[in-house]
Amino acid sequence: MGSENFDSMVPALEVNGLTVRFPIRGGVFSKVKDYFTAVDDVSFTLSQGKILSIVGESGCGKSTLVKSLVGLVPIAKGSFSLFGMAVKDGKVDSPKKSVRVSDLVQMIFQDPFSSLNPRQTVTEILTAPVIARGFSFDESCKRARELLDRVSLPAGAMDKFPHEFSGGQRQRLCIARSLMVRPKVLLCDEVTSALDVSVQAQILHLLDDLRRDLGLSILFISHDMQVVRALSDDVLVMYFGHVVEHGPADEVLTNPQNEYTEKLLASVPTIRRD
Ligand SMILES: Nc1ncnc2c1ncn2[C@@H]1O[C@H](COP(=O)(O)OP(=O)(O)OP(=O)(O)O)[C@@H](O)[C@H]1O
Ligand SMILES: [Mg+2]
Repeated sequence: MGSENFDSMVPALEVNGLTVRFPIRGGVFSKVKDYFTAVDDVSFTLSQGKILSIVGESGCGKSTLVKSLVGLVPIAKGSFSLFGMAVKDGKVDSPKKSVRVSDLVQMIFQDPFSSLNPRQTVTEILTAPVIARGFSFDESCKRARELLDRVSLPAGAMDKFPHEFSGGQRQRLCIARSLMVRPKVLLCDEVTSALDVSVQAQILHLLDDLRRDLGLSILFISHDMQVVRALSDDVLVMYFGHVVEHGPADEVLTNPQNEYTEKLLASVPTIRRD
């Protein structure tokens, strides 16, 4: 779990021609009438230790793309590999036969309120993924306490329930939970959009510190172009399920080659009082 060392030249994630389709049902028997292609022939690479942001208007397929990588929606066509190892049916083609995608890749969601079980204590929430992987309760608690400290939550948090935390603290908790299995790649789907602006900055700094200190590679979805500019090494622009632009953040955001990227950058909302 998480302690493997990979050749640093190999991309953390390489996606080739990935396509996701959702059935469109209709009629009395709710039969499949057609398919809607939410992600269409998408290819890209995420280098080790880097942050790649995915941007694009609402509904363009960003969440569907990252969900397909962790098996939350099925892949219709295409493939992906992690650290040079092909992935098939949620399993990584590794010399260590037991490696699963979830050992290497963890996802953090937009809403820290609904992504934590309200009936579980922090101890239960944090230790469950590693106990399921054969760790003892004591070992799991030790790792949980270390991670709480790493995300700046007090050790006393272990006995509390999610509702006893603020939104920002809950998102720290979600980050700690995602790190329990010592993943190599984090998929962050609008992880700050439910948070207050001042808390957003703290969470973003935390993610960047974790990237640097733990060598994590991060796929980062955001609608906030300022955040994307500040945080990303590379940017991928999606439009109706397709990739329309992909390159270093500086180039894509300052000198976009695609008309849609230009429009997206120009559409950053401004508020004016009359
Ligand atoms: N489970 C599903 N069944 C059917 N259609 C779906 C499903 N999930 C998503 N879609 C459709 O796929 C398209 C892409 O959705 P997705 O959630 O990936 O967009 P997004 O880029 O993440 O948008 P947002 O920025 O609003 O989060 C949308 O048209 C959506 O309605
Ligand atoms: Mg989304």
